[in-house]
Amino acid sequence: MTMIKNDLFLRALKGETVERPPVWMMRQAGRYLPDFMKIKEKYDFFTRCRTPELATEITVMPIRQVGTDAAILFSDILVVPQAMNIEVEMKPGVGPWLPNPIRSAQDVKDAVVPNVYEELGYVYNAIKMTKKELDNEVPLIGFAGSPWTIFCYCVQGQGSKNFDKAKQFCFSNPVAAHELLQKITDTTIAYLKGKVEVGVDAVQVFDSWGGMLSPEDYQHFSWKYIQQIIDALKDDIPVIAFGKGCWFALEQMSQSGVSALGVDWTCSPENARKFTNNSITLQGNFDPSRLLSPIPEIERMTIEMIDRFGKDKYIANLGHGILPNIPVDHAKAFVNAVKNYKAK
Ligand code: CP3
Repeated sequence: MTMIKNDLFLRALKGETVERPPVWMMRQAGRYLPDFMKIKEKYDFFTRCRTPELATEITVMPIRQVGTDAAILFSDILVVPQAMNIEVEMKPGVGPWLPNPIRSAQDVKDAVVPNVYEELGYVYNAIKMTKKELDNEVPLIGFAGSPWTIFCYCVQGQGSKNFDKAKQFCFSNPVAAHELLQKITDTTIAYLKGKVEVGVDAVQVFDSWGGMLSPEDYQHFSWKYIQQIIDALKDDIPVIAFGKGCWFALEQMSQSGVSALGVDWTCSPENARKFTNNSITLQGNFDPSRLLSPIPEIERMTIEMIDRFGKDKYIANLGHGILPNIPVDHAKAFVNAVKNYKAK
């Protein structure tokens, strides 16, 4: 394996002692950056994803302009259902939009487990180009949505406050629901293995809507499938699992073979350490809205967050994606506060 010049992120994933924690931001390659907005005016969303030159340019932007310690490939979790023959559009002002959501056992049968090299080759090309452009400066993170989070969009057909139709499908037609979850899981495993082959340095599974489920339902409809992904990948590459609102599952997640767990801002650093028996690298959990605070307050809160998690076995991040209305200098203040951190 080639040496990465700034390997803080990879060392934190191994639990090694570091001078300071690494920092990156979920959804860092996007909407708060003026240069991204310029590209967005010219090319629609999936064109940006499917054109390696554009995906590379956007992926590298936060490295050059904000100075994060890791890059995350510009793409979307919903390229996976697209590859499964489920139509997904990105409607300006609305977000993800699926004209034919999955609502029956027959719809599930019609979803295919694709050849990922054929259907998602453009992602692999973007990774290869990005790796070249990064020239081993910082590691590159590949990602996928969790099967449950992908299922939510496939069945609901769009974003939702409660994903009621997705849950209804699970509870009224569990056999078909599990069949779809398994198809998504099989596709995701193949997809992520392909990313490893072309050179990503770590992968993150985003379970953005895991916290919509009760702890019991979470086991059956979400965790079971994430564990399959971890089992399939963990010997090849560090895996990070981020479950928004899933603090109740942290203990079990910490025993799954992952390298790190993402935490959102509703769980205190102390509780996150307690639930995981202080045994694993944690990532998070700055409230993205807190980046709207005055800069001195951002700096103070960031240092406090590191003090509370501890500088080792820790990756500084937000507790969910960065918001479009965050001023770039506020994002930089967050990143620089981590980079200037001095252990007490
Ligand atoms: O750091 C990065 O930006 C990397 C690329 C990335 C995107 N989406 C680009 C994107 C990543 C890692 C994602 C993950 C993603 N996508 C998740 C999981 C993380 C999370 O935020 O919970 C989810 C749930 C999605 C689905 C999705 N894609 C939604 C709900 C939306 C619309 C609302 C929004 O956030 O803007 C998208 C569109 C999307 N994906 C945009 C970007 C930069 C904005 C739309 C655009 O640029 O046209």
